[in-house]
Amino acid sequence: MSSNLSKNTTKKILVTGGAGYIGSHTCVELLNDGHEIIVLDNLSNSSEESLKRVQEITGKTLEFVKGDIRDHKLLNSLFSNHEIASVIHFAGLKAVGESVSMPLAYYDNNVNGTLVLLEAMKQANVKTLVFSSSATVYGDPASLPISEDFPTSATNPYGRSKLMIEEILQDLHVSDNSWRIALLRYFNPVGAHPSGRIGEDPNDIPNNLMPYIAQVAIGKLDKLSVFGNDYPTHDGTGVRDYIHVVDLSLGHVRAIEKLQKTAGIHAWNLGVGKGYSVLEMVAAFEQASQQPVPYQFAPRRSGDIAACYANPEKALNELGWKAEKGVDDMVSDSWRWQSVNPNGYHS
Ligand code: NAD
Ligand code: UD1
Repeated sequence: MSSNLSKNTTKKILVTGGAGYIGSHTCVELLNDGHEIIVLDNLSNSSEESLKRVQEITGKTLEFVKGDIRDHKLLNSLFSNHEIASVIHFAGLKAVGESVSMPLAYYDNNVNGTLVLLEAMKQANVKTLVFSSSATVYGDPASLPISEDFPTSATNPYGRSKLMIEEILQDLHVSDNSWRIALLRYFNPVGAHPSGRIGEDPNDIPNNLMPYIAQVAIGKLDKLSVFGNDYPTHDGTGVRDYIHVVDLSLGHVRAIEKLQKTAGIHAWNLGVGKGYSVLEMVAAFEQASQQPVPYQFAPRRSGDIAACYANPEKALNELGWKAEKGVDDMVSDSWRWQSVNPNGYHS
């Protein structure tokens, strides 16, 4: 599917945080769909190599500006010097534990950064925005699957920053209903591009399950600690809605297309709608990699919930989007990325 609007004009999409994990995969899908893009990234958690590879995968070029979303002057000059039609906003800090020890850095980067971006958009009269939100805004849901109208809450500064931004965007839309805003609530993005050229490249020891498992399978880490085996789930371990990053990226392309046709502010869950336990993910990874993934049970991680999975119907009905890839694709693509690039972009 392609977007007529962007093909018929020279207008571009500004992608903040486009060098990162989800951003780089989304750049591939945007370029494949015929969009022109400018990436703004300060490379605080990524490398320019990802963007070189995005261009190599697609055979298309993109423009890269190294800079910070909190830089008013830079933002204003970007909007005055380019015909930008819309913004996909990935830039931000994302580690829950770090957000607890460095709350000010998180509020500054995520909340203040978004305010600076919105001010520049407003001045330039660019009012179409896709925002990277998270299923974390649902807190500990009272029931499953989770629909977009469930109550929201946050238990840590990272989650609170996402919730604050969602609320700021709601207020902005109340003040001026010509804004077109998508709040994309991601469940658990995993996997990598099937080419094995781009993927998740954590700076440090990974916090999230899939990159941790991948590093155990390749022998960089000894064993996985499974956080909790006494949850009220079918095998006692935590259950999550893992979604392939390529499916997630395609959700952004559909959201941009939808906003070109419809005004308003909309929340959409981007999830598969099925939950898998930690032990099921370990078994699937062992199967795909043919490598053992040793693990030990450890106490529950503070702040974790037992189970979380989406009701993805709204995105299907309104965006015509649904996740197509299953757990086998997620683990095999993630293993390909890890084994071909054992040290990520520094391999
Ligand atoms: P990532 O860290 O790989 O990508 C974020 C990118 O933003 C990085 O390239 C980083 O260098 C850049 N960046 C950070 N602060 C910046 C700033 N002030 N100015 C310019 N660039 C800046 O993370 P990701 O996994 O690709 O996540 C993208 C977005 O999706 C984030 O907003 C994250 O909170 C959100 N999200 C991620 C997940 C997940 O599991 N990965 C889940 C839910 C929501
Ligand atoms: C985490 C964040 C969430 C964020 C999301 C994406 C927390 C509490 N939540 O979600 O806010 O939006 O990442 O960045 O950090 N697990 C292990 N061992 C590990 C790592 C994880 O057993 O070494 C388990 C967890 O307990 C959980 C599952 O694996 O049951 C998934 O964990 P993870 O990948 O960190 O994602 P979430 O906790 O769902």
